[in-house]
Amino acid sequence: MSTTMDEALRRGYAERGTERPNSIESMNLQRQRMRRAAAQPAELQQARRFRSASVDARAMERQCILPAVSDVSALRAFKILRTRVLRRMDMHKWNSIAVSGMSQGEGKTMTAINLALALSQDVNTWVFLVDLDLQRPQIANYLGMSFEKGLSDYLLGKAELDEIVYNLQSERLGVIPNARAFQHSSEFLNSPRMGEFTAALEREMPRRIVIFDMPPLLASDDVLAFAPQFDSLLLVVSEGKSGRAMLRGAKEVLSEMNLLGVALNRSKERNESAYY
Ligand SMILES: Nc1ncnc2c1ncn2[C@@H]1O[C@H](COP(=O)(O)OP(=O)(O)O)[C@@H](O)[C@H]1O
Ligand SMILES: [Mg+2]
Repeated sequence: MSTTMDEALRRGYAERGTERPNSIESMNLQRQRMRRAAAQPAELQQARRFRSASVDARAMERQCILPAVSDVSALRAFKILRTRVLRRMDMHKWNSIAVSGMSQGEGKTMTAINLALALSQDVNTWVFLVDLDLQRPQIANYLGMSFEKGLSDYLLGKAELDEIVYNLQSERLGVIPNARAFQHSSEFLNSPRMGEFTAALEREMPRRIVIFDMPPLLASDDVLAFAPQFDSLLLVVSEGKSGRAMLRGAKEVLSEMNLLGVALNRSKERNESAYY
């Protein structure tokens, strides 16, 4: 592991006042303990309703977002992805997913949004979708969603959680959009305020799956810096774009995280099995 990444991870733990765990197992245990402690009050109440926001079908169609997509094989692919994700998360008792990949433009954001939509169509599944590509926030654009306050307002201390979560069509889906790009994104990802944010999400959690849309793995130290705060990683790999060399380069970073799966995007073979 390179020094900068190691440092990023250590800094993350240091700022939260916890020691760096030695292994994925101990990291998971620590997270589960935190979650149980945080989760008790929420189990007594129902998952909450948040303010509602409208979306724009034309924007969604442009960006291949599900309800606006007429491609049957794409719809099927996301249903299969949903089922597999649910099964694996259940098996490992994971609640949160970071969506990342090797480079820009591979379909990470498109996949994160479509997976969140597909999951929330399941009547038993409640989802939070968080725009955590702090340097290039896109979720609101792709959904054609207008909103007042977002994640940046929360991080700057100008809003609380219930002001930045928006229910789209379904109350089972809560989107946390962001309108403002941050240059020093990994510092924000490590900030105490971000810790408060994930803790607030955790309190809603036994009933919710949280999806974080993130930047590429190696373009910055964002994903690694945030790794202590998510359970599993979904890699989006675009055929032709993510070279073997890049995957090899990411091996050490990946060894720090639980791999939920690899979603293959833009496959030439347009069949659903190629998606996962
Ligand atoms: N399978 C696909 N077919 C057509 N367009 C796609 C596909 N996947 C992604 N795109 C488009 O490519 C662009 C980049 O995708 P995006 O999800 O923003 O990538 P990333 O988040 O990895 O940078 C978007 O305009 C998106 O709509
Ligand atoms: Mg993206």
